[in-house]
Parts: sequence; C-alpha cells; structure tokens
Amino acid sequence: MRTSNLAALGLTLVVFLALSAAAMAGGNAENGKKIVQARNLGNCAACHVVPGMEFPGDVGPDLAKSMEGYAAKDRDTVWQWVWDARKFDPDTIMPPFGPNKLLTKEQVDDVVEYLYSIKKK
Ligand code: HEC
Repeated sequence: MRTSNLAALGLTLVVFLALSAAAMAGGNAENGKKIVQARNLGNCAACHVVPGMEFPGDVGPDLAKSMEGYAAKDRDTVWQWVWDARKFDPDTIMPPFGPNKLLTKEQVDDVVEYLYSIKKK
C-alpha cells in the first residue's frame, strides 16, 4: 500500500514537472498555427502572406519574410507586434489583438512560437 502511494506521488510529481517545463518553454507552435489560420481568431492571412493559406491579403508584409529580419531581434519585439502593433506604428491597421481581447497572452505566446517556426533561415 505504502509503496504504491509513493509511486503515485512520484508519478504526479513527474507529470507536474513536465507540464511546468512545457509552460516555461513558451508557446505551442501547432496551436499558434491554428490561431494564425483561423478566420475567427488571428485571421492573419487577411493581411499577411502566411504559409499554407490560399488567397492571402497583402496589406501587411509576408510573415515568413518578416521573421528573417527578426533574427537578431528579441522575442519580446515579435510578441509586442502581435499583442499591440500600435506600439510600433500608431496608425497601423493591424488590430491590437491583446487590448481588444481578440487573443489572450497564452494565445499570443503560441502565435509567436509559430512565427519562429516559419522563419526563413
Ligand atoms: C487588418 C490587417 C492585419 C491583420 C489582420 C494582421 N496584421 Fe500584422 N501587420 C499589418 C500591417 C499593415 C503591418 C505592417 C506594419 C505597420 O502597419 O506599420 C503588420 C505588421 C506585422 C508584424 C511586424 C512585421 C515586421 O516586418 O516588422 C508582425 C509580426 C505581424 N504583423 C503579425 C501578425 C499576426 C501574427 C497576425 C494575426 C494574429 C496579424 N499580424 C494580423 C496588418 C495586419
């Protein structure tokens, strides 16, 4: 009895540690891809060329190309662009996804993770 309780506790601990490690690693690129492509979420393809999306808009820059330029920049800059683009361009037509409550912080983490995954080398 004792041993199995201990084993259960150990297992719980391992699962807990694995989950918190995943959370610390930042976003989930797979989920970010879904958000970027979903018409009712990011809908980034309305304005940006995004891999795998047909008939994208071209009001904004090709996101894979944009990410090239971010090679030397920090993740926070990319994050801030998605959260509130007005920070960089007060007249931008890009919606402030964070302040307008279109995306949560976790969703923006996922989107940023996805953007790094499509970055051209
Ligand atoms: C209504 C159009 C529109 C939508 C929707 C939109 N954007 Fe943008 N975005 C723009 C425009 C236009 C720019 C160019 C910067 C400016 O406006 O000054 C831009 C710039 C950016 C940049 C900075 C690019 C660079 O080269 O510095 C990133 C990153 C970005 N957008 C990501 C996204 C993501 C991710 C989404 C979806 C969650 C999204 N955008 C949705 C219009 C849009």
